[in-house]
Amino acid sequence: MAGSPASVAGATSVGPSAVRLDPRVVPRLLNWFAKARRPLPWRARREAYPIWIAEVLLQQTRVAQAVPYYRRFLDRFPTVEALAAADLDAVLKAWEGAGYYARARHLHAAARAIVADRGGRLPRTRDAWRTLPGVGDYIAAAVASLAYGEPVLALEANGLRVGARLAAETAPIDRARTRRRLGEALEARMPADAAGAFNEALMELGETICLPRKPRCGECPLPPFCRARATLADPGALPTRSPRPPKPAVRAAVVAVQWRDRLLVRRRPMSGLLGGLWELPGGKIEADELPRAAARRELREETGLRVGRLVPRGTIRHEYSHFRVTLYAFTTSVGGARPPAVRGGRWATRAAIDRLALPKATRRLLSRLPERPSARRGGARPGSRSRPGHRASSTPAGARATGRRARAADGPASAGRRRARR
Ligand code: ADE
Repeated sequence: MAGSPASVAGATSVGPSAVRLDPRVVPRLLNWFAKARRPLPWRARREAYPIWIAEVLLQQTRVAQAVPYYRRFLDRFPTVEALAAADLDAVLKAWEGAGYYARARHLHAAARAIVADRGGRLPRTRDAWRTLPGVGDYIAAAVASLAYGEPVLALEANGLRVGARLAAETAPIDRARTRRRLGEALEARMPADAAGAFNEALMELGETICLPRKPRCGECPLPPFCRARATLADPGALPTRSPRPPKPAVRAAVVAVQWRDRLLVRRRPMSGLLGGLWELPGGKIEADELPRAAARRELREETGLRVGRLVPRGTIRHEYSHFRVTLYAFTTSVGGARPPAVRGGRWATRAAIDRLALPKATRRLLSRLPERPSARRGGARPGSRSRPGHRASSTPAGARATGRRARAADGPASAGRRRARR
């Protein structure tokens, strides 16, 4: 696939453990970036707070998609103090739609730690950033280098792709060993006085020119130094990835239970998939179980409520990072002078629901239901009260099925890039 080592200027593979990049890559890259740099909102000033928020968003979201979320978040929480003072609910609401909600929970926790422990002063070094909740190697290095010029490499997927092509690295990019090798090669060339620009230029090149499948090699400032370009018919064939097992497919049933102009919603546990968001009761359909029976069972298990007839409202598909789910939607309504007592739920109007942070799947599902989903066809049955000691089934349908609840990322599939198919 790749040509022999040293056959092309730019990168020399000198065995499986080391890669060297031509030093001339650096001025070319920086000159190009000085001209091509997009005026993205977090680039207006070199300030750590906006850069931090942007980098957290950009971890799983493309620039074009991230910008509106970034603006909304910064409008709502313009300073670390404002973020720390906010309720988690308000933070989740501002993050709604961006996915991977642990990011928002961690931002909030980190802001509180900065205010409580550091008098609101943001850390300046990678090591100090690293101590905050949710701040990993990449975010720490990105903020420290972009905001304060600390000479540390911040390498994300776009920069890695550029490095892999420069070096014609054929080993799978998802392997830690491969990433380390490329990281070391890039770090060796990082100019100590322009680390932020170097890091950002790599990302920018990867995002605008060195595209995943169809790189625009004709517009690239580095052609003489790119081994992939020099040695491959299709430089877009790199980087390679290890084969991924297909995502498990899960079926779940959810119920919109109506009392007067209110629907029953419940909050997910703070940790885990979609933590802290609100949704309709429901859960995984067991093997050999009919969707309607599952809906009834989940509703009973989660809230203690027993209802009459469930009206089917079609299905919705949604894809998460680790599994795909088909949601079977049902509606029902209950009567009574007062809303039935439920365990762990809340009867909310549509307007109140709009103010809650909801998963995309729930939002879509609600938009599909009529305002008054069904005339009262059943009504709460006797014994619908919550039963003490009953299991509160709070695990999401899909996550439970994968057995990976704690780890499953709650963003849309493909690192936030593929739109949910619903
Ligand atoms: N992707 C991640 N961080 C980025 C940044 N600062 N600019 C552009 N794209 C990015």
